[in-house]
Amino acid sequence: MELNELDTNKNIETAAWQALENSILYYRGRPVGTVAAYDASVEALNYDQCFIRDFVSSALLFLIKGRFDIVKNFLEETLKLQPKERALDAYKPGRGLIPASFKVVIVDGEEYLEADFGEHAIARVTPVDSCLWWLILLRAYVIATKDFSLAYQPEFQTGIRLIMDICLANRFDMYPTLLVPDGACMIDRRMGIYGHPLEIQVLFFAALRAARELLVCKGNQDIVNAIDNRLPLLCGHIRQHYWIDINRLNAIYRFKGEEYGKTAVNLFNIYADSLPYYKLDKWLPRTGGYLVGNVGPSQMDTRFFTLGNLMAVISGLSTEEQSEKIMVLIQERWDDLVADMPMKICYPALEGEEYRLVTGCDPKNIPWSYHNAGSWPVLMWMLAAAAIKTKKKYLVEKAIGIALPKVSDDEWPEYYDGKQGRLIGKQARKYQTWTIAGFLLAKELTLHPEYLPLVSFEKLPADLVSQACELELSSVDS
Ligand code: GLC
Repeated sequence: MELNELDTNKNIETAAWQALENSILYYRGRPVGTVAAYDASVEALNYDQCFIRDFVSSALLFLIKGRFDIVKNFLEETLKLQPKERALDAYKPGRGLIPASFKVVIVDGEEYLEADFGEHAIARVTPVDSCLWWLILLRAYVIATKDFSLAYQPEFQTGIRLIMDICLANRFDMYPTLLVPDGACMIDRRMGIYGHPLEIQVLFFAALRAARELLVCKGNQDIVNAIDNRLPLLCGHIRQHYWIDINRLNAIYRFKGEEYGKTAVNLFNIYADSLPYYKLDKWLPRTGGYLVGNVGPSQMDTRFFTLGNLMAVISGLSTEEQSEKIMVLIQERWDDLVADMPMKICYPALEGEEYRLVTGCDPKNIPWSYHNAGSWPVLMWMLAAAAIKTKKKYLVEKAIGIALPKVSDDEWPEYYDGKQGRLIGKQARKYQTWTIAGFLLAKELTLHPEYLPLVSFEKLPADLVSQACELELSSVDS
């Protein structure tokens, strides 16, 4: 690298740290989070609020830099917003949920925090991912500070328990996965991801593991047992039923349908004709593979969703072999998934009639824009973490090299449009905090891989997973 190039990069980084600083939200004089975007040129809508999922990128950076206070304040304040009473009424957030976002309001000269559980959000979407991210962040805080005392406080133990209660509750279906409505995660608009979307399942897996580490068993033995029971089943289910590579595609292609009873092979009655297998046959590299977007009754959504796949690698949900294949796929399909801006939120876009039917003609989610295969720089930190975990640091160095000059010149847009990711998103905010943090965090993780354990987990013992799945099958058989 040339000397003046090094200087430019340094300047970009200094400006990025300053922009992150400017995004800090203060409440009663204490820093409690970061706003979603600090862009005065457009109407704020809810971008002047602190979103739980967005804050995770900033929070990890603050933890790396030893600024524990802001993360602690965030965890404490959001915990206070969690409903603690059992609400059987409609239009009330369920007990245990953590809001999508919050803002500071002033009433009679006094500051308060006002939460949004989806009752204000566009399309009134439910933030299922918030409580899962909250747990993942609490664990990261404990790891960074080496101090369990915050998590062991009774209010925190109750908070964790309530999140587990809502996740592990009695429900209608029997899958180990979580059944959620459309738009319950980063993609918080209608995009055909209702059911059992990968992103939620992966965050659920990581949150279960975090809760298992943080819950004091005494008094919580029932929840601990439930987690121990659910974790290997969830893990086995995703590894088996969400996985696709060329061998698996071959098996699905020849699946029989309408199988009844215990000996069924095609458990979910997936009809081969529902898969775009001629496209997949071309797109799947010989040695690569990935976890599909959704699996349910006669449903397999074969779109590639980036957050779910990268977090599966980071959290150890995918096996080592699968993780390797996911990274091979990203490498081999670089032009589709990374191109000029790391990286696409999903691939490919829904187009034509499918776009109209599935998104409800959403003008923001037109093909190759926003959630419909737009490019989101925030995903760069997850690419970094997954690349480091699988010993492919060169991948993230390449991605940072592509993104850095462009994303800062363009004033840190929320997302990019187009197949190549060259157009600044039609309605993208500038100075989007998680774009700034995503880039800085990718950089930190590359330079200091020792921070990877903040978000990664050791692998679950393979025999635990296979034993649990076998047990489960034999209990269905008997
Ligand atoms: C958009 C994104 C969502 C994000 C929010 C704030 O709604 O879809 O994931 O949390 O903006 O940045």
